[in-house]
Amino acid sequence: MTAQPKIVAINGSERDGNTADVLRHAAAVAAKRNVDLEAVDLRNLRMERCGPCGDCNDRPLPCAVADDIPGVVAKMIAADGIIFAAPVHGFGTASLMQTFIERAGVGYLRFDRPLSNKVAGIISVARRYSAGEVWAQLTVNALLNRMILVGSGFPATVHALHRGDAAKDEEGLTNVTRLVDRMTDMIELLAEHRRLTGRDDIFRPAERNERVGLALNELQDQR
Ligand SMILES: Cc1cc2nc3c(=O)[nH]c(=O)nc-3n(C[C@H](O)[C@H](O)[C@H](O)COP(=O)(O)O)c2cc1C
Repeated sequence: MTAQPKIVAINGSERDGNTADVLRHAAAVAAKRNVDLEAVDLRNLRMERCGPCGDCNDRPLPCAVADDIPGVVAKMIAADGIIFAAPVHGFGTASLMQTFIERAGVGYLRFDRPLSNKVAGIISVARRYSAGEVWAQLTVNALLNRMILVGSGFPATVHALHRGDAAKDEEGLTNVTRLVDRMTDMIELLAEHRRLTGRDDIFRPAERNERVGLALNELQDQR
């Protein structure tokens, strides 16, 4: 029997609020398709900010700052799909998610891109303003990590101000339903492809460490 597919959803809200409600809806949709959707609440984790070292653009090795982020990265690597879900704060991505993008992305993911070919989904939650901008920012980060984004209709932006409002945004939740269904379709398609071909590297084999050859001094050496 094949293992149950898994989606890990990163929740960038400070509270058990609208984003959590949206992810509970997403988990119910996933469960109907026999997919386990686990929400990882950043608010409950130990997450440092990026430090002053600033050597990320040169180092070919993961970050040395100790917090819970390596464990979250390991969870994402073990999953078939990843959802980034964040509220909009101050017309931008809520700071917990922004910090996570910096810590996980720059600290761990930029070297070998271990999330390559995971199926990605993006959800932003806002009263209204800049929901699209935050959705787009998170989308670019998924693409940066070479994840597969499936078209699922309108972007999964949910309009909600007060706690409980997400449940009232029918159109937003419909878009979340479509997103999870389409992610599941793609996860199943990729699993079928792996089964039929016996190949795990669905597309091109992972490139070498992205940072090697990019460090400033190495680039200068090449000139
Ligand atoms: C500090 C702060 C800043 C916010 N800024 C915006 C904003 O710029 N645009 C917007 O539409 N909503 C804004 N909101 C509203 C939240 O996006 C909205 O309440 C959302 O439902 C919160 O999700 P949560 O309950 O999962 O935390 C802001 C909320 C807070 C707390």
